Amino acid sequence: MTFMQSRNNYTVTRKCVLDETVLRNNRLLIQDETTPASAAYNMLRTQVLRAMDKIQARTLGIISARSGEGRTTTAINLALSLARERNHTALLVDLDFNNPCIKKYMGIDGDGSVLAVLEHKDAVENVLINPGIPGLTLLVGDDRVSDSSDILSDPKTQELIAQLKSRYDSRIIIFDLPAALEKDDAIAFLPYLDAVLVVVDDGKTLQEDLAKLASLIDAQKIIGTLLNRQR
Ligand SMILES: Nc1ncnc2c1ncn2[C@@H]1O[C@H](COP(=O)(O)OP(=O)(O)OP(=O)(O)O)[C@@H](O)[C@H]1O
Ligand SMILES: [Mg+2]
Repeated sequence: MTFMQSRNNYTVTRKCVLDETVLRNNRLLIQDETTPASAAYNMLRTQVLRAMDKIQARTLGIISARSGEGRTTTAINLALSLARERNHTALLVDLDFNNPCIKKYMGIDGDGSVLAVLEHKDAVENVLINPGIPGLTLLVGDDRVSDSSDILSDPKTQELIAQLKSRYDSRIIIFDLPAALEKDDAIAFLPYLDAVLVVVDDGKTLQEDLAKLASLIDAQKIIGTLLNRQR
């Protein structure tokens, strides 16, 4: 994977080239893929877009009760599918400071850290990555921090989200977050989310955990549930 710099009217965005083998190995869609998996994510994308449109939402959090239920895989594939849609662009942000995996799953190396942006140590323009897919931008990193909910609930984070929203009108911003019942980050970040997609691992996610999760989230923000690893 190589990094380049490109200058457009707005920013200097670093560009990288993705390795299709890495994507495939991590269950991620490759460009122009026409498989049942790709069709399923396109279906999800269309339903998500419709639901977000209804409530005029631009920011979407991918949430699940426990770890390993498929949030990151869902977040990346949804972003890849959104980027294919001509009328929209997607910005995928890794806010899982418990287990940041977007860089790893997409095979992206190099520095630049979303945490540094949230801590005002770097400008967002320096950290954005264009992964060689038109319509998709990444704001990722690999920092792990324990007190991340403090950072996420900081009002300055709201300023950053507003800035990200205003950059492009048609952009959907997708946030990957830690398991909502294991760390308070997702709940702390909820006020900044217009919409939430709940990932449920079929056969693993407990009914009682789902009920607890639902009680923590404003029902109007829940645009849907994705049944992962469906049996
Ligand atoms: N539908 C699926 N079928 C098979 N494997 C899957 C499926 N969805 C995700 N996985 C795999 O399960 C593992 C966990 O998925 P993922 O990292 O997306 O979950 P997560 O909820 O983000 O986990 P974490 O809590 O660690 O952040 C990964 O190895 C991923 O490739
Ligand atoms: Mg994850």
